[in-house]
Amino acid sequence: MTIKEIKNIFIDYFKEKNHQVIKSASLIPENDPSVLFTTAGMHPLVPYLLGEKHPAGKRLVNVQKCLRTADIDEVGDESHLTFFEMLGNWSLGDYFKNEAIEMSYDLLVNHLHINPQRLVVTVFAGDDAVPSDNETYEIWKKIGLTDDKIFFCDREHNWWGPVGLTGPCGPDTEIFYDTLKSKCSDQCGPTCNCGKYIEIWNNVFMEYNKLADGTYALLKQKNVDTGMGVERILLAVNDCHSVYNTEAFKSIIEKIEALANKKYGGTYDRAFRIVADHIKAATFILGDERAITPSNTDQGYILRRLIRRACRYLMQLEITQEAIGDIALIIINQYGEYYPELINQKDFIIDELIKEARAFNKTLSRGLKEFNKIIENNKNIETLTGDIAFRLYDTYGFPLEMTIELCKEKNIKVDIEGFHARFKQHQELSRVGAEKKFRGGLADNSEETTKLHTATHLLHATLRKVLGNTVYQRGSNINSERLRFDFSFDRKLTPEEIAEVETLVNRAIEQKLDVIVEEKSLTEAKQDESLIGLFAERYGEVVKIYRIGDFSAEICGGPHVKNTSELGKFKIIKEESSSAGVRRIKAILE
Ligand code: ALA
Repeated sequence: MTIKEIKNIFIDYFKEKNHQVIKSASLIPENDPSVLFTTAGMHPLVPYLLGEKHPAGKRLVNVQKCLRTADIDEVGDESHLTFFEMLGNWSLGDYFKNEAIEMSYDLLVNHLHINPQRLVVTVFAGDDAVPSDNETYEIWKKIGLTDDKIFFCDREHNWWGPVGLTGPCGPDTEIFYDTLKSKCSDQCGPTCNCGKYIEIWNNVFMEYNKLADGTYALLKQKNVDTGMGVERILLAVNDCHSVYNTEAFKSIIEKIEALANKKYGGTYDRAFRIVADHIKAATFILGDERAITPSNTDQGYILRRLIRRACRYLMQLEITQEAIGDIALIIINQYGEYYPELINQKDFIIDELIKEARAFNKTLSRGLKEFNKIIENNKNIETLTGDIAFRLYDTYGFPLEMTIELCKEKNIKVDIEGFHARFKQHQELSRVGAEKKFRGGLADNSEETTKLHTATHLLHATLRKVLGNTVYQRGSNINSERLRFDFSFDRKLTPEEIAEVETLVNRAIEQKLDVIVEEKSLTEAKQDESLIGLFAERYGEVVKIYRIGDFSAEICGGPHVKNTSELGKFKIIKEESSSAGVRRIKAILE
């Protein structure tokens, strides 16, 4: 079966069961400062899982582009990916366990024709906070699964969510495909990482809300949130053994084979997979409606790491770094039908990839020389100190994980804690945050960022007043120190324009304008031409509008201050080019 057939079967199946199709949201979460990327189809649906009414109803289905970086070290094996597409169906306070599980099984066995003998499932075993999910066990038994196919597992394996620190979550039941590889040990089961069992579908029964104090409250409604990775179901349906052998990667791997003049299926497999996965992820981040460019903070930092890691493995494959653009082109063509934003942003994606690859190349070759010198000068070294790892990072742009990998090849350990200590000392405020976020996905949501968020609205409205209505937001990034705003405009701003922008923003602050929030349906909001905001990937929900006096009205999820008098003095610290046709302003509040 092809990807297209699988997607169609999935969507049509749930349409038939009265689900409404919703669009894939952006990879960059809009209304959620707590995570950097959209990691699951449920992510953009959090308000509705919490009880808000979804305009499309109580039953939804879609294909969502997702990005997960927590497993990045796993990428290179047969099933882990950073970027993937997720098929999902949702019940927002409608059907629950019985119907959800029956539909999953019916779809897998009767529509995707997976041999039921190859399926095993896991069920939440219960703990002090939430009891064992016997109901789910009974449903699987009723469907016909025998006890040897049902595994009770703990919270680590069978509890999903919340995405950030708080929010909807619950016990889940995960469906695995048995690849028929032999068991790696007597204990080998679905939760084992050896690759015998591949998780293909997760049904989460979201009836809990994790609160800030760490306790669980019952949600207003019982929801179902499911997710099935397209690449993995493709593997199961076509019995391919590895996601990298499926159509999701075929043309990309073929391109890499041609460029490297090497065959996939041997010594270089790990490099092939990392290059394919990371360039795909980078292409989707750059091609997103809210394009991000490589930088040293937040999403931009992750993008930079993905590109740089891909570059290192391109080197191992003896492919020139510039070929990154050729590989991206294959990805754009492959996915353009479903994600037209990739086609629209084609030149931008390729330019940015090549630009970053070149920048990396320069520092990398100097850094590799330095690294080899260090190793030669320290014969029999067992552990590389944090200081040296930090110097490689700071001076030569080596991400820590790259130093770790280089050392691993030579059987040398790295003092990771030492690295972090140095890192913290030197880059206290910005980069250390990004490193932490890279692991935990957490972004800042402090009083400072709230103020800067409101200042960003004032800036956006002011730029349109000063430079005209062709200005619109291309990206926004806020940390506790500064705002960064990317917008469409094709030349440098003059000093007079910058001064005027500052004056107008400060005037709005001095006027002590109230910040008022209201809600409207998207249809209504679209008719209101005074509103600015991102409509592109919206699908008919109720949107929040933040009005700052008569100065600005923007669609946004918040949070914002109550009155502009809270902001202090606005100051632009930098105006520069971000990419072709996009300018970037960095500003602070004093
Ligand atoms: N949100 C669930 C997952 O990602 C379905 O596994």
